[in-house]
Amino acid sequence: MPQASMKRSDLNRIMREADQFIRSFGYILPPFAYWSPDEFKANADKAEAIVSANLGWDITDYGLGDFMDTGLFLFTVRNGKVGDLKKGRGMLYAEKAMISRQDQYSPMHRHNLKAEDIINRGGGTLVIELFGDTNGKCDRDKGTVVFTDGIRRELEPGHKLQLKPGESVTLMPNEHWHAFWGEGGDVFVGEVSTVNDDMTDNVFEDKSIARFSGIEEDEAPLHLLVPDYRTWL
Ligand SMILES: [Fe+2]
Repeated sequence: MPQASMKRSDLNRIMREADQFIRSFGYILPPFAYWSPDEFKANADKAEAIVSANLGWDITDYGLGDFMDTGLFLFTVRNGKVGDLKKGRGMLYAEKAMISRQDQYSPMHRHNLKAEDIINRGGGTLVIELFGDTNGKCDRDKGTVVFTDGIRRELEPGHKLQLKPGESVTLMPNEHWHAFWGEGGDVFVGEVSTVNDDMTDNVFEDKSIARFSGIEEDEAPLHLLVPDYRTWL
């Protein structure tokens, strides 16, 4: 499938805007977020755990070429080990800081393995559209049962949950098909989940969707993105 690319200059600008937006809520990204590509290379030995867990900057237009229409900003702050999950003890968890811009769509998907709490940390309203699952496929005639901050809710097919700042929902693998976007403003979104593997664990309803964008190099990177690690380090 040919993939549209994002320009490196746009990725750099989105990083600067995201850092400023996230800081406005009193949340600060970890030190490695601010390494230049050269600093990352110089720290590569020490930073092996960052690279192997795919921590860091992640900006996607889902391969569709229009970030503001369909896209998501993510920063993986921490991420455990799939092996630990199998053992049932150890680092089983992950955390992301994300931004859904106003009316910026993250397409309908589910996860095979990851249970996730999606949290509105501040800004506008986070809308999450939900469907049930039948045999691994999004069933647009099927509703779901979810917990929002511990409250059980039975939802009709396609219900659009409206999460205000402070509110969250727990989404289970293979059960909750979800798409989301910001309404009334950009939203600082938190994700607390089980171990996360973005290379294999995102199942999109529309099979033409790609989890990662291609990159067109029109200026030097401000910071490396997770998909840069294989080529830049
Ligand atoms: Fe998800």
